[in-house]
Amino acid sequence: MKETVKLKIWRFDPQKETHGHWQDFEVPYNEGMRVLDALWHIYEEIDPTLAFRFGCRAGQCGSCAMIINGKPELSCKTELLPDKEYALEPLPTFAITKDLAVDFTEPFEKMKEIRSDFAKASEEAQTFTMDEIKDLLEYHKCIECYNCIAACPSVAESWNEFMGPAYMRKYAQVQFDPRRNKDVFEKALENGLFRCTTCKACVEACPKDIDLAHKAIEKLRSVVVKHGLGPLEGQKEFIERVRSYGKAVTIEKQPLTGEDGQFGEYVGEGEPVIFFTGCMMDLRLQKIGKDLIDVLNELGYQVIIPTDQVCCGSPAIRSGDFELGIHQFKKNVEILERYGVKDVIVGCPGCGITLKDDYSRWAKEILKRSLKFKTYDINEFIYEKVMKMPPPENPLELKVTYHDPCHLNRGQGVKQEPRDLIKFTGAEIVEMKEADRCCGAGGGVRAGIRDFSRLIASRKAQHIKETKAEAIVTPCPFCIFQLKELVKNEGIDMEVVHTATLLNRLLCKSSKN
Ligand code: SF4
Ligand code: FES
Repeated sequence: MKETVKLKIWRFDPQKETHGHWQDFEVPYNEGMRVLDALWHIYEEIDPTLAFRFGCRAGQCGSCAMIINGKPELSCKTELLPDKEYALEPLPTFAITKDLAVDFTEPFEKMKEIRSDFAKASEEAQTFTMDEIKDLLEYHKCIECYNCIAACPSVAESWNEFMGPAYMRKYAQVQFDPRRNKDVFEKALENGLFRCTTCKACVEACPKDIDLAHKAIEKLRSVVVKHGLGPLEGQKEFIERVRSYGKAVTIEKQPLTGEDGQFGEYVGEGEPVIFFTGCMMDLRLQKIGKDLIDVLNELGYQVIIPTDQVCCGSPAIRSGDFELGIHQFKKNVEILERYGVKDVIVGCPGCGITLKDDYSRWAKEILKRSLKFKTYDINEFIYEKVMKMPPPENPLELKVTYHDPCHLNRGQGVKQEPRDLIKFTGAEIVEMKEADRCCGAGGGVRAGIRDFSRLIASRKAQHIKETKAEAIVTPCPFCIFQLKELVKNEGIDMEVVHTATLLNRLLCKSSKN
């Protein structure tokens, strides 16, 4: 029997109806067929009224973007698998012309405006360096499909206040073009530059792999900061703290590190690893830090906790203060390399992505060498060792749901490991819808625009409630802070815990927080 593919397509004709509806189709499957091929089959053989957009059929024009199984994709590039079901919807945010076709007139006009107003190339001939050409090419790869706008959690809450990644990319293209006649960073600022949480949903959605979070948002923010127009007031507070005592948060409880810390420099016996605590575990969520140390000790590692480690610089870097970020980088690299230990463990994805990406980049650019250590998130570091252990005799009896921290999932590609570790403890995972949707805490947004950050988080409330879990597990101190506030405000009776805490409950029979 010929294999088929089932498609559920959102049908809506705004000229004739007020509400849309889903319609089911089944089409014959051919090896290598794409979503666009299936749509053509429906149009030619089943229903010629089906509306959808396309152009090049080769991933080059951006016309065929739509939501496929909940994610923005190009339909001409998305391969179908037989006997699988696909849900197709138009891109959100834009006006629907009909069915899967949206109206790009306004977005194209906005793009033209940025181009015509600001990008008039200087008539004087200028010479590009090869690095400048390479950087500019990145911006020019955009095919204006607007998948990034459809994926953006900040746009979803306030497109009128945040223009979105595609346009920030355009501002960056003009701002960093040596031929520009005019700076455009102030326009980017007016159009919501600081509303991005750097969650990288746009990067994941971009068919041209443009690193919008770093190359557009952070770089534009750094120009704003250099001109004294940023960062935002709330962000200035943590930047001041980093400048004055090296940490981004206030000291409210006995720190984990330092001369007055709860631990000395060396904890336990075994193969040595360095624990880079980050500010949250050091000064606010010390119990999680202790759990992480206990887990590493229990697995046979000696944990070295450099007492003079400072903030990784992530809050400064994401807010555009690269100068402070580089200062923290230099200081921490000196501290972390003095032990001659190759593995550095973090329990905070914000620190993780900074040490892995920004520090590695700066090591090459500034120190002209590679780092002498490798950074691991705790979940990826202990994964193999834990998975080889026999199943626990006294597994945890707990129903949990899991929230993917953006800087761990999209930032470091660590998605399955924490889930497997949770399952190892015996806890049952009930997946929430859109587990990888940003909680709104990152990119300095929680510090800078608290209400907006809460608004982004609130989208998760219903999904969390629906799981009827007893706990939310998420291996990120910032997400934990944000989600604890969310469950409290929404009256949701769930604890919010780090994977290290859950594992410690199992491995070390630790008492509940
Ligand atoms: Fe599409 Fe990427 Fe351009 Fe956004 S930046 S419009 S996702 S090509
Ligand atoms: Fe041009 Fe898909 S049809 S990108």
